[in-house]
Amino acid sequence: MINCYVKTRRVQRLFKGRKPKALFGNASKKERQEYKSLKGQKRKKKPLRQKRKKKKVNPNVVVRNTSKYGKALFASADIKKGSLVFDYSGCREIHAGKVSDIPNEPPEFIRDHTLQIGEHRFLFVDKGKLGRFFAHSCEPNCGFLGNTKIVAMRDIKKGEELTFDYEMSEESDWRIKCLCGSKNCRKTIGSFRNLPEQKIRQYGKFIAYWLRKKYGLA
Ligand SMILES: C[S@@+](CC[C@H](N)C(=O)[O-])C[C@H]1O[C@@H](n2cnc3c(N)ncnc32)[C@H](O)[C@@H]1O
Ligand SMILES: [Zn+2]
Repeated sequence: MINCYVKTRRVQRLFKGRKPKALFGNASKKERQEYKSLKGQKRKKKPLRQKRKKKKVNPNVVVRNTSKYGKALFASADIKKGSLVFDYSGCREIHAGKVSDIPNEPPEFIRDHTLQIGEHRFLFVDKGKLGRFFAHSCEPNCGFLGNTKIVAMRDIKKGEELTFDYEMSEESDWRIKCLCGSKNCRKTIGSFRNLPEQKIRQYGKFIAYWLRKKYGLA
């Protein structure tokens, strides 16, 4: 049996670092040896906490058909300002000189479902991902956090369509006619360079990081 005060944590802590002789005074050799072996025992390792998977999609987002431009995203419940709506990280990265170099054949329509994250870097959003259906608006309710996260720029009400301005992240040769129907629609969707200064100021930190960095806005 080990001397009882050898066992108690409090005493162990109190005499931490001191030699067993000084500790026990007249303790027997056997007791000292037992104490030494006890000290040498490794503490049981706690099992590593499993990393929680970060959420990539807001649960209050659904895909619906529109009469204007195919499928789009809608809020199935109120979404608070600043909440994550979709995170494109983990999508397949494509390197291309310009967006028109990316193929756009069925069934994937890769070019129409890419997100620019750098001068020659694009993420392809495949059919399994909700973010594939994010539509553009010239009066959007969502914007960027970094290069891949889309967050609510304001409180969004249940039933509202979720949109961001494609010119917050694109700066290549992709151009299409805009059908967003907002009061200040710019009629063409394309490059960040087409964004009016007033819009750049309004969007501020919601512009994709790579463009803010490129133009000294970060
Ligand atoms: C990322 S996808 C969005 C999902 C697409 N609506 C679908 O059904 O697969 C981008 C495409 O959606 C359409 N789109 C999105 N927003 C638009 C807008 N404001 N005006 C015109 N077309 C738009 C265009 O065809 C564009 O190439
Ligand atoms: Zn528009």
